[in-house]
This record gives sequence, structure tokens and C-alpha cells, in this order.
Amino acid sequence: MTRNGVTIARSGPSRRSLLAAGGSAAIASILRPGLVRATTSSDKTLVAAEGRVRITPDPYPRTVVWCYGGSVPGPEIRLRQGESLRVSVENRLAQDTTVHWHGLRIPNAMDGAPYVTQPPIQPGDSFTYQFTPPDAGTYWYHPHADSAEQVGRGLMGALIIEEPQPLPVDRDVVWVLGDFRLNDDASIAGGFGNRMEMSMSGRIGNTVTINGRVPDRFPVRSGERIRLRLINAAPARVFGLEFKGHHPLVVAFDGQPVEPHAPEGGRVVLGPAMRTDLILDIAGKPGRSAAVLDTFYKGLEYKLVEISYSGEQPLTTQPLAAPAKLPPNPVPEPDLANAQRHEVTLTGGMMGGMGMGGGMMGGMGMMGGSMWAINGTAMMNDDMRHMKPVLTLARGKSYVLAIDNQTAWHHPMHLHGHSFRVITRNGARTKYREWRDTVLIPPRERAEIAFVADNPGDWMFHCHILDHQEGGMMSVIRVA
Ligand code: C2O
Ligand code: CU
Repeated sequence: MTRNGVTIARSGPSRRSLLAAGGSAAIASILRPGLVRATTSSDKTLVAAEGRVRITPDPYPRTVVWCYGGSVPGPEIRLRQGESLRVSVENRLAQDTTVHWHGLRIPNAMDGAPYVTQPPIQPGDSFTYQFTPPDAGTYWYHPHADSAEQVGRGLMGALIIEEPQPLPVDRDVVWVLGDFRLNDDASIAGGFGNRMEMSMSGRIGNTVTINGRVPDRFPVRSGERIRLRLINAAPARVFGLEFKGHHPLVVAFDGQPVEPHAPEGGRVVLGPAMRTDLILDIAGKPGRSAAVLDTFYKGLEYKLVEISYSGEQPLTTQPLAAPAKLPPNPVPEPDLANAQRHEVTLTGGMMGGMGMGGGMMGGMGMMGGSMWAINGTAMMNDDMRHMKPVLTLARGKSYVLAIDNQTAWHHPMHLHGHSFRVITRNGARTKYREWRDTVLIPPRERAEIAFVADNPGDWMFHCHILDHQEGGMMSVIRVA
């Protein structure tokens, strides 16, 4: 059994020792971190600093992390659609940072991309972000400087924009999925920026968390309907979740509503930064339990958490009506007939595929040592000062980007400031033409995305496996 998961990398603590401690941390791990609730306009301070939190159960000591507001994840920010948010971010870390509001279609100056949209926030300084998110849905926030290490040490938080009329459910539950690499004493292992890992899967951890804790049980009551908001805040790990004995329906991807449907192949796949909202009906009998498995990496499957029913009477014994589709967000519809098309080619990385064996370092040597590239260009180590945009798009026009992953690795490609429709995969039309802000492209596969370039500015377009991003799979798309 491997609750603490996949060990693709060699280093890191023994999983078994973390597991031996087992069971007690349980319920607290599922509870939400503190809420920051807005009224009509919310004025908040978010302090990024070192902290000490409990990730692993007793008898492990607490873990020194970098975090927002003293917790991992940071405080949940929750607004109603149409409300504005003003957050003053104070940097008490020993290095530069910024905050990026992942997935929000907000003005460029508030996007938190260092050097591209703002100077980085230096240690001791602060920066005030202020915006009104146009779309309801499930989003998150994280630093955009030295991201692999800053997210890898705990800087992340959920950002929920509620619909004016929320879906009728008994509970709205957020799972921020995290992945840490811990030593045997529960401290965070060093070795960020390891070039071998960077050229492969990125830094996969050995300790998977829900809302910052190694999970054990997810307590539920028979008959309840849960809206489960899944956020993959891991630096590199892809999740493939199977809810045994349950039939969740997907109602949103990356914050944007989608026709309610069963997950493809019965598995909810989430690349880094991606979100999925599920309607999860707790339809079993009181007292039962069922596993949520993560089966994404073959041979490295593990149980994430146990759905654990109370003995209480069912809330209802009637089957619940199918959930309604969420109301659409005001995202402009691309005009496919007149869209201009651009090819985007992803190259680089170790060519041997999964595993540690052999292979060539495809992108090594080019572009001053970058390992990954987008259309042959690579932006390294957050140095965006000298980058020319890979594409310049005309404001208000529709575009199709045909992304071709020529590498042996998965890449969750994220465009800032816009949501796009995923219109084809490997040349075939997608069934739901889903809106997303991050599209996961498997090795040697292709996807086409379409959107209206309606948000002016320079926008990051990069892989959200943070080691890949820092290894060159990062670029800027200009909308002018
Ligand atoms: Cu979630 Cu460029 O980031
Ligand atoms: Cu990647």
C-alpha cells in the first residue's frame, strides 16, 4: 500500500515510515482551512513567510514550510461572482515572489508574472492586487517566481468564486491536492532544480496531501450530495482519481461549466494546476466505506483517501435528480470559421519515456542549456526581461493554437488571462469542447485550443509542471 505515493525520483524518505504512523490525522485533514469571506469588496492581507505546519500525522514533527497566512494551503479566498477583491501581499520570504491568480481573466497588471506584468515583490516589500473576477468557478493562487521551490514548499491556496445561484448541494467541499517530498523527519527535502528530474517528470513528491494533510478518511453521510472542487496544486504530479463504488459527474473544468458527464474512463485526470468540479452523490448505505484511488502512474497506484460513511440515517433514500448544468460564464465565443491558426511545438526533455533508464537529452545544448522549448525558444529561470513574445495576437480576434507535444512527457499547458476551448485532440473533435485554462497533452499527442484574444497585455504561456517551466517551457503571448 502506498498512500504516500509515487516515487519516480530516487531521493526522498521511505514511504513506509510515513505510513507506519497511520491513521489518526484523519478528519482534520479534510476540513477546510480558514475562510476569507468577502462581502461586496474584500480587503485582505496575505503574508508569504516561513511557517510550521502539520503535514504528516503524529508522531512526526511538524514541517517547516513556506506558506501564506501560516497555513498550507493558505487561507481560502471565497467571493461571489461580481465582487471585487483587494489583497495586499507581504513578502516575508528571503527571496522575491509574486502572486498569480491562476485561471482568472483579470487585467494584465494584476496577473503576478514577474518582469512581465510587475516587478517581483522583494523581501520586506508588499504589492496590492485588486480586481473583479468575471467568472464563477474554482481557481487558485500561487507564486510565480522560483515557482518550483515556492509551490514545492507550500505556497498555494484555493480561490473560489461562487455563482449568484449556487448549485443545490448539501455540502461544498474543496480538496487542494498537494504533493511534497519529505525526509524521514517530515522536513521538506532539498534538491530543488535537479536537472535530471527537470528533464523528465519534474519533482514528484512522496507525500500526497488533501488540504495540506496526509488524508485518511473523508467522512460523509449517506444520501448527501457533495460538490467536490478538486484543485491540483502539486508542482509536478498528475492525478487520476477513481471513486470506487461512486459515480461522480464532472460539472466544471478549470472553473468553467461543462455539460455534466461521467469522467472519461471512470477516472478524473488532473494535471498540475487543473481543477475539476464534481457532483458526488453519497449513494451507499450508512456505515460503508469506499476508496478513492489515484491510478495515474501505472504500477504506482495508491489509495488517496477512504470515503467513510457515518452510521446516521440517510438524508434521503430517493435517487437524486441529475444535476443541472452550471450557468455559463461571460467568456467570448471564438469564431472558428475566421480564426487564425498558429502551430505551437513542444520539444526537449529526456526522450526515453517514463522511468530512469537511458535516453537522450533532446533539448540539451540548445538555447544556452535549456531542456525544453516552445517553438524553439526557451525562457529560463523566470528571466522574462529579455523574452520576445512567441506570438503576437490582435486584440478581439479569434485564434486556434495547434499544440504538438513532440516530447516523451505529459505537459499541462497553461495560458494566462484567457480561457480557451479544447476543440480537438489528435485531430478528432472533443465531445464537450470544454473551456479550460490548462490543457494536459500526453506524450506525442496534439490538441487544438481556440479562444478570443480579448485581454490586452503580455501573457505567460507555459507548462505547469514547474520544473519544466523553469527548464525553458515558458513563453509569452502578446495580445495587442
Ligand atoms: Cu498557475 Cu503561470 O501559472
Ligand atoms: Cu511540461
